[in-house]
Amino acid sequence: MSQTVRGVIARGKGEEVELVDVVVPDPGPNDVIVRVQACGVCHTDLAYRDGGINDEYPFLLGHEAAGIVETVGEHVTHVAEGDFVVLNWRAVCGECRACKRGEPQYCFATHNASKKMTLTDGTELSPALGIGAFIDKTLVHEGQCTKVDPSADPAVAGLLGCGVMAGLGAAVNTGGVKRGQSVAVIGCGGVGVAAVVGARLAGASTIIAVDIDDTKLEWAKDFGATHTVNSRETDPVEAIQGLTGGFGADVVIDAVGRPETYEQAFYARDLAGTVVLVGVPTPEMKLELPLLDFFGRGGSLKSSWYGDCLPERDFPMLVDLHLQGRLPLEKFVSERIGIDAVEAAFGAMKAGSVLRSVVTL
Ligand SMILES: NC(=O)c1ccc[n+]([C@@H]2O[C@H](COP(=O)([O-])OP(=O)(O)OC[C@H]3O[C@@H](n4cnc5c(N)ncnc54)[C@H](O)[C@@H]3O)[C@@H](O)[C@H]2O)c1
Ligand SMILES: [Zn+2]
Ligand SMILES: [Zn+2]
Repeated sequence: MSQTVRGVIARGKGEEVELVDVVVPDPGPNDVIVRVQACGVCHTDLAYRDGGINDEYPFLLGHEAAGIVETVGEHVTHVAEGDFVVLNWRAVCGECRACKRGEPQYCFATHNASKKMTLTDGTELSPALGIGAFIDKTLVHEGQCTKVDPSADPAVAGLLGCGVMAGLGAAVNTGGVKRGQSVAVIGCGGVGVAAVVGARLAGASTIIAVDIDDTKLEWAKDFGATHTVNSRETDPVEAIQGLTGGFGADVVIDAVGRPETYEQAFYARDLAGTVVLVGVPTPEMKLELPLLDFFGRGGSLKSSWYGDCLPERDFPMLVDLHLQGRLPLEKFVSERIGIDAVEAAFGAMKAGSVLRSVVTL
């Protein structure tokens, strides 16, 4: 029997989000209903609302969540009722060409629920990143549920479901940061600060945080940046070179995703260094650089989706490190808000006054 719960939807481009009744169907054979306990507000939710991802309105927003498995479909074996899980948007298929060649982090056919959640008039909802978690209960594929230590705070653990994992993984997985390396992170919002945390976890000895906002730079320092650069006041390429013996950083992470920040990242890395693009550009953005510089400077230019994570490998490990006091994930939670305050949280995000607002239920 389907059930009706409260959920936050975006009906049309740029329209304020609404809290409405949403119908959650019974789970299909491999689906699971999860009672959501907490869901972070990510920049990508705002991008969905504003039509920056696609135009498949109405969207059911929210995708950075943790909760308790409530009901499982008849063939589900991966989780059981009562399990504490972090939701993920990379339930790998094991069958596509990326999975078969041993690179499941690039899986081209990730699993989502087999049925659609709807409005009470039957209109199908498009769940953000195949999740949709600003809702009392959500329907996902079993593979989208990753079991973690239940003693973790749901508001903290849920953040691994998107932004924190994207930034941390951009440093640790995509950038391959190693002990003693120098790392620069351009843009220190939730994702960039998580990259700082990842660089620290991996043992980088120089971690340079770059932003145009001094508050963000203070936060980055608190999370482990060894140096900060305000790129409104100082040329970041020269500053990064100056802090790395004149050479540039081994790994530079662009957590903004604009042509000018990418160009800074490109020139602020050492010869044969690595650039990781984790910030998401918009369709009209173009990059123009001398091709000879691409050739002559060598190294590796990568993009990072979801920090190249494998949820089943990474989420439990990161929760364990957090519970051991080695990963200060709790500091990402700037405020806890009600499910009716998502629109206000978008305002706080734009104003730059929060790392993460987290809806708790
Ligand atoms: N690749 C992925 O898998 C993935 C996942 C989640 C989010 N993202 C993307 O990562 C980006 C950052 O997300 P967030 O949640 O941290 O956003 P945010 O808005 O919290 O942070 C952005 C930061 O960049 C700074 N900034 C803006 N322009 C700058 C400039 N020219 N130079 C230096 N700093 C500048 C801002 O002051 C702010 O601190 C977004 O584009 C988001 O869509 C990517
Ligand atoms: Zn696959
Ligand atoms: Zn996200």
